[in-house]
Amino acid sequence: MNHLIIGGNSGIGNAVVEALGESNCIIFSRRGDESASNHYKINVLTDEFPELPTLKSIVYCPGTIQLKPFHRLSEEDFLNDLQTNVIGAIKVLQFYQKTLKSNNGNVVLFSTIAISQGMGFHSSIAVSKGAIEGLMKSLAAEWAPFVRVNCIAPSLTDTPLAQDLLNTEQKREGANNRHPLKRIGTPVDIAQGVQFLIENSWVTGQIIHIDGGLSSIKML
Ligand SMILES: NC(=O)c1ccc[n+]([C@@H]2O[C@H](COP(=O)([O-])OP(=O)(O)OC[C@H]3O[C@@H](n4cnc5c(N)ncnc54)[C@H](OP(=O)(O)O)[C@@H]3O)[C@@H](O)[C@H]2O)c1
Repeated sequence: MNHLIIGGNSGIGNAVVEALGESNCIIFSRRGDESASNHYKINVLTDEFPELPTLKSIVYCPGTIQLKPFHRLSEEDFLNDLQTNVIGAIKVLQFYQKTLKSNNGNVVLFSTIAISQGMGFHSSIAVSKGAIEGLMKSLAAEWAPFVRVNCIAPSLTDTPLAQDLLNTEQKREGANNRHPLKRIGTPVDIAQGVQFLIENSWVTGQIIHIDGGLSSIKML
């Protein structure tokens, strides 16, 4: 059985591929890798998808971090975030839904800590990831008992996507200190959660908060 990791060439997706084993995974990304037979150069927003008859899991990793005050966000900013975070996932899930159902498959989507915790300057990404949480719950209900659908809501994790927030020692130290567990996440921290959601056959409709305690603990 194959796991389809959209965005398996970077950050969290790459750690998921390592956790599941490269030979068990199919990867889609815009950059692609012509030397690897399991790595397709596909932009999920514009390209056609190949048939994958033995698909077991879909992990949808494309995401954005566009932090701006609300008054500086344009309609286009909101639409761009929605395209990458939500519409891409919808296209992939609509295309592969029959295969997922016939393989008793599962889906892992990504939200963010900025849904359970209101955070300034996050309004655009919050609109998109709020939609992802809604989509996850709705599909988990609609596709039970055949396909499980879950979501992970990470806090700041050290990936290429987050580098603008971590590109000085001062920013990195501040970010570490904001978390009750005194560090930001690693891609492996999040990939362990993905692996759990793929493997545990009695979990669906869940949002797993992997965030160093930030969403649930107040340090006094
Ligand atoms: N890192 C964090 O701090 C953090 C925090 C909260 C939530 N998250 C969420 O966690 C998820 C993974 O984040 P990450 O930090 O690992 O991101 P990342 O390092 O930017 O990886 C994203 C991957 O998606 C691929 N991708 C992007 N757009 C694509 C498209 N249109 N078609 C196909 N592939 C596409 C990218 O490859 P190409 O560029 O080659 O296409 C890349 O492999 C995201 O949904 C993000 O919102 C991350």
